[in-house]
Amino acid sequence: MTKEYRPRTIAAHEGDTPAAWQGAVAPPIYETSLFTFPTFEAAQAAFRGAPGVYIYTRGWNPTARLAEQKIAALEGGEACKIFASGMAAVSSALLRFLRQGDHVVAVRSLYSVTYRFLKEFAPRFGIDHSFVDGRDLKEIAAAIRPTTRILYLESPTSLLFDLQDLAACAALARERGIVTIIDNSWATPIFQRPIQLGIDVVVHSASKYLSGHSDVVAGALIAGQKIVDEVVRHEHAILGGNIGPFEAWLLVRGLRTLPVRMNAHQAAAIEVARFLEAHRRVRKVHYPGLPSHPQHELGRRQMSGTSGLLSVELDANLDGVRAFTNALRLFAIGVSWGGYESLALPIAVTDVKPEERGYPVGLVRLYIGLEEPQALVEDLSQALQAW
Ligand SMILES: Cc1ncc(COP(=O)(O)O)c(C=O)c1O
Repeated sequence: MTKEYRPRTIAAHEGDTPAAWQGAVAPPIYETSLFTFPTFEAAQAAFRGAPGVYIYTRGWNPTARLAEQKIAALEGGEACKIFASGMAAVSSALLRFLRQGDHVVAVRSLYSVTYRFLKEFAPRFGIDHSFVDGRDLKEIAAAIRPTTRILYLESPTSLLFDLQDLAACAALARERGIVTIIDNSWATPIFQRPIQLGIDVVVHSASKYLSGHSDVVAGALIAGQKIVDEVVRHEHAILGGNIGPFEAWLLVRGLRTLPVRMNAHQAAAIEVARFLEAHRRVRKVHYPGLPSHPQHELGRRQMSGTSGLLSVELDANLDGVRAFTNALRLFAIGVSWGGYESLALPIAVTDVKPEERGYPVGLVRLYIGLEEPQALVEDLSQALQAW
């Protein structure tokens, strides 16, 4: 019998050892770069991999280990490594499998910096890529070459919220010996567990929901033990994207409330999305939680819920978008998401080239925080009259 998934219990207790912490419920912050040994023999045993023994924090640290144990259990993966940022996790995951001459198939509306990794950075090392419409399995299959090593997914994508069929993508890639990597930052393991659907590697910007309070930049990579061991030995150790113990501690603190926060974000986002969808000055709402989302059914199949990030296409030109944004009172203007505070990000203020990526000028991303949904609706309602 498969074990029932209990994320709240995992978040609260997985990996915690209060008996070893004088009974404290909050873990100690092992704010140290190195660990010492009483004898030659003890040091030698540590270098030979004695379990539970630490050497240097740019490797393993007990505070970081606690976050890693919780995240691995939440995702249902064998192991997890946390990083100094989401991009450190993303680039380590990609570099783990890529060699000169390799090719990556990735969804076109990827997070902009991951997009730049493939478009600007990887070609320096002779690594090619094809961007595809992730909604179309045939297009994905057609882009695969004999040199394709990775199928890189982000479902939903974080601006237009398109989905990929994860089980189908995993099957397609596996048949061809291609590794699948997914950025699961939007749904989190509370609503989507890609490893259970056959995906090989999950990455996160833990700066978002996992930490949950907009006070830490962090990343996570979850996969089978062998892959994580290799990442730790190579990409993590050599490129050095190591998280500090205090940031790891903040991540643990945030993880404890992840399941309850996600449910609150979902409930509020649905209410806001319904309001926006019915508004005459909104052309379109991109949110997988709405029945009108073209992939709503796929979303219901592969996710158990929808989170708090969505986008709207305003019936407005650039001046209208400016007026709308400046009229907002509760929504702050800002990048990122996953904290307690609601945010608005007009695509027109970013360095993303809307025409290159196919985004309309009236596109505004909204992050629905933990305020009362009615307060957010009232704020949006008045801002929608600003032009
Ligand atoms: C979907 C997604 N993935 C990855 C990242 C990168 O994470 P970080 O900012 O923690 O490096 C971000 C950051 O905004 C993101 O939105």
